[in-house]
Amino acid sequence: MDLFEYQARDLFAKHGVPVLAGEVIDTPEAARQVTAELGGRAVVKAQVKTGGRGKAGGVKLASDPDDAVEKAGQILGMDIKGHTVHKVMLAQTADIADEYYVSYLLDRANRTFLAMASVEGGMDIEEVAATKPEALAKIPVDANEGVTEAKAREIVEAARFPAEIADQAVEVLQTLWTVFVKEDALLVEVNPLVKTADGKVLALDGKVSLDENAEFRQPDHVAFEDKAAANPLEAAAKAKGLNYVKLDGQVGIIGNGAGLVMSTLDVVAYAGEKHSGVKPANFLDIGGGASADVMANGLEIILGDPDVRSVFVNVFGGITACDAVANGIVQALELLRSKGEDVTKPLVVRLDGNNAELGRKILSDANHPLVEQVDTMDGAADRAAELAAK
Ligand SMILES: Nc1ncnc2c1ncn2[C@@H]1O[C@H](COP(=O)(O)OP(=O)(O)OP(=O)(O)O)[C@@H](O)[C@H]1O
Ligand SMILES: [Mg+2]
Repeated sequence: MDLFEYQARDLFAKHGVPVLAGEVIDTPEAARQVTAELGGRAVVKAQVKTGGRGKAGGVKLASDPDDAVEKAGQILGMDIKGHTVHKVMLAQTADIADEYYVSYLLDRANRTFLAMASVEGGMDIEEVAATKPEALAKIPVDANEGVTEAKAREIVEAARFPAEIADQAVEVLQTLWTVFVKEDALLVEVNPLVKTADGKVLALDGKVSLDENAEFRQPDHVAFEDKAAANPLEAAAKAKGLNYVKLDGQVGIIGNGAGLVMSTLDVVAYAGEKHSGVKPANFLDIGGGASADVMANGLEIILGDPDVRSVFVNVFGGITACDAVANGIVQALELLRSKGEDVTKPLVVRLDGNNAELGRKILSDANHPLVEQVDTMDGAADRAAELAAK
């Protein structure tokens, strides 16, 4: 999960990384009082989860409270690379003497963590990396050792940070590592880390990405979720513990096992080419088990998607045999009917693997008017695409 800058700033502050005071607002008028509280001047910063805000005009200096109202008005509602600005952060202004770059990230390719640092901080670190790679120091960080004082000094020296800020930079690097570890982050980036005119080191912009796999031990992190931006179907699926991703097609997909679901998306997309170009409407893996409840939850989410015109239930029976899954489907249909959410879209079911015969018989005997069975995966994909195209 990527955080907004203001959320990253809050995490930095919590762990003792030096940041400036700031406040988030969503109306221009609110800027007046906040700016007054911040000392009469402020930097107005668009809060969007994309880079290059400054270049797009999303970071502006306001010289007084009235000016802040005007600048906030210009930035709120702005579109930055497809992201609409709904919030701005007003931050205290810093008297910047120099700008640097530092980050920690998970380096998957090398199976380690990586520290990056540069004296060429500011807005375009990607360009520095591409055109002057020697100006971007890259130092692996061992997961067991972490960023000790010696490691922090190694990073500072490799990046050639000026001697007069070396001690402060070493401390900031160690504190940022604490943020990285304690918050289960995959990325912690500060650009710019600045030296102010009076020689202080401050983090002026932060980018943090949190590891959602660590949610179970990070109860505070739910507060960071951007509920306004979340897809309502995905949010509902998450609340039910389902692995669901909304896509932009018309064929709803339910399968057991992520690999099977991925290949189901492929065959449906392929079959769709012959049927007016219909595509998969979602990814949904109901996993092993596939009980009536899980099946009902899955169907409820998929049928709740107004884009869906047919549903393909693709199950390969393994430890959970097909008869159990078939019973799950039959009970799920009854469960939905009893909730007044009767199935109104055609369902194509393909059962294969353990106890497939028995599973198919259970479904045939149930004789639901909208449920069809097709024995092969390709055939079922074709039929589901055909029904969606009707
Ligand atoms: N509080 C501040 N006081 C003074 N100047 C600031 C302040 N915050 C940012 N700036 C200046 O604005 C520039 C851009 O700000 P910032 O890094 O937050 O946005 P950005 O880099 O454009 O955004 P992104 O990181 O999303 O690409 C900084 O490099 C710095 O020069
Ligand atoms: Mg920046």
